[in-house]
Amino acid sequence: MTTTLVTGIAELLTNDPEREIVEDAAVVLAGDTIGWVGPAAQAPAADEAIDLGGRAVIPGFVDSHSHLVFAGDRSAEFAARMTGEPYDGGGIATTVAATRAASDDELRALVAHRVEEMHHQGTTTVEIKSGYGLTIDDEVRALKIAREFTTETTYLGAHVVPSDATREAYVDLVAGPMLRACAPHARWIDVFCEPHSPHAFDADETRHIVAAGRAAGLRIRLHGNQIGHGPGVQVAVEVGAASVDHCTYLSDDDIAALAGSDTVATLLPGVEFSTRSPYPSGRRLLDAGVSIALASDCNPGTCYSSSMPLMIALAVREMGLTPLEAVRAATLGSARALRREDIGVIAVGKRADLTVLDAPSYRHLAYRPGVPIARSLDEVSPS
Ligand code: NIG
Ligand code: FE
Repeated sequence: MTTTLVTGIAELLTNDPEREIVEDAAVVLAGDTIGWVGPAAQAPAADEAIDLGGRAVIPGFVDSHSHLVFAGDRSAEFAARMTGEPYDGGGIATTVAATRAASDDELRALVAHRVEEMHHQGTTTVEIKSGYGLTIDDEVRALKIAREFTTETTYLGAHVVPSDATREAYVDLVAGPMLRACAPHARWIDVFCEPHSPHAFDADETRHIVAAGRAAGLRIRLHGNQIGHGPGVQVAVEVGAASVDHCTYLSDDDIAALAGSDTVATLLPGVEFSTRSPYPSGRRLLDAGVSIALASDCNPGTCYSSSMPLMIALAVREMGLTPLEAVRAATLGSARALRREDIGVIAVGKRADLTVLDAPSYRHLAYRPGVPIARSLDEVSPS
């Protein structure tokens, strides 16, 4: 196994409570894992060397919520929203039609391009959902393509009720034959639990669908409380979901329920940005003891951005997080939202997923919004 000594790290943010920030640091990579971490002056020898010339290094971004398997364009819907049209999930049908019409190769190329775009911005792990197929064959196809790019695949047959189905019949399909066909290709099940949308699912439908998913061996994550106050967060806690995502509208009871649970609240500030919605307070969640994550939700409707640095900048500016809390939420927090122990931390034995910043400190992610300073380590050439 080849070992690589990475030096020239002005500031290393590890997320390891033993040594959270190391200045003038070095890391030794041993194949795919981290073999050594510490001050550069004490670094052991290795087979190869990379000198980063005084940059900051952080754990690779973990984007724990995305919908990358789609075709078509909804920029006109976005433009209409900027003049005051509200979002209610109705535009999902447009993407479903375009996605069904795309060939396997077209869809695969679109996903490959988006995953590469994420990688260029420092994302090293991505979760990818289905949900723009909404037939057995189209959902299976979406998950199989997603699987080519990540192990974190999520069955979201319960995204919306398609226009050619009745609600009752579609819930039966999603919790029955579609689930059986999709479960072998997914790690997670998700439901758009949102009674404020006429297209999405209510609390009882959500409970029914996720119970079937769990029985089929899938783990649970939910979309909740996106468009208004609703039952999503409470249902997520009740069913033991790993994460409830959006959390745009939260009551005191929702926050108390999250604080007393293992369910991570995943904040998606790009959605508030792109739908002109109010930002929830990340500060309130952290102060209440809730475990939080940050993700992009990259999708054609509510946030067509794959940029985790943008999410960090928005979380700092609009959600009351410090730069350190925001970067932690986008790495360690989102790793927890995926129930992953091997990523999100730079420590011996963890995966060698490092993100390099063209900047001296992690703080620049929020300090220099819109500037492409983050990239994955494998895009930095050896010295
Ligand atoms: O996470 N809210 C549900 N699903 C996506 C948006 C899907 C779409 O509009 O295409 C979301 O916001
Ligand atoms: Fe989503």
